[in-house]
Amino acid sequence: MDRVIDKTPHRIAAMFDAIAGRYDLLNHLLSGGLDWWWRARAARALRLTGDERVLDLCTGTADLAIALSRRGGGAARVVGVDFAARMLDQAAGKLRARGLCGRVSLVRADAMHVPLPVASVDAATIAFGIRNVEDPRRTLAELHRVVRPGGRIAILEFGMPTLPGLGPLYRWYFRCVLPRVGRLISRHDSAYAYLPASVGAFPSGAGFRELLDDAGFVDTAAVRMLLGVVYLYAATRGGRDGESGL
Ligand SMILES: C[S@@+](CC[C@H](N)C(=O)[O-])C[C@H]1O[C@@H](n2cnc3c(N)ncnc32)[C@H](O)[C@@H]1O
Repeated sequence: MDRVIDKTPHRIAAMFDAIAGRYDLLNHLLSGGLDWWWRARAARALRLTGDERVLDLCTGTADLAIALSRRGGGAARVVGVDFAARMLDQAAGKLRARGLCGRVSLVRADAMHVPLPVASVDAATIAFGIRNVEDPRRTLAELHRVVRPGGRIAILEFGMPTLPGLGPLYRWYFRCVLPRVGRLISRHDSAYAYLPASVGAFPSGAGFRELLDDAGFVDTAAVRMLLGVVYLYAATRGGRDGESGL
């Protein structure tokens, strides 16, 4: 696990606050629009029936919370948690524009201290957030605490593609092109240099599954998407009804 990059909560929250206004534009641009599809896959991995209450941790501008609330299926209620106030402002505007304020609520809090009771949600997601958290193990323990036994979780995070030939090309894009485009559009000096640095230092594939196993999740799976550029991790919160998991 990375010990060099400074992930203290106030620093990470300030960085996302500073780029909040351009965050969605850059997301769609730098992923070539694939981020919609990645979030839709994560939402499907929860196998929702329409009755569930779902936590979207590190919700940011709420794109995954919105995907989780799609009409026909989807979640009955979504709680989006994030500690960056300006990201939540963007999220609130999008929810109002889509008439989703009644189904999705937003809470400003740290992912290492989720303000929800034990076993209070049926499922939970994190999209591109766990890598930014100062103590990912603590956050996974929080997920385990708040998801009911038998509930599903889905986590999206970047990886590094390993295919011969593609790896160097992608690394060049990720480490040279992306930070420059990101800096130009976000007007933030370091946020888009932090992205490849933090991805390179974070466990992916089997490494991250181990963290899920350690946190007590069962049936863990890691699905490589786009040759490993992004991973979808899915798992079930084990334990019997009535067990707190703590
Ligand atoms: C890369 S963005 C992802 C946002 C959104 N999930 C998406 O898919 O676009 C990461 C988000 O995680 C939030 N975040 C990072 N660490 C956090 C923490 N410890 N507690 C709460 N939110 C955190 C940031 O504020 C930011 O909004």
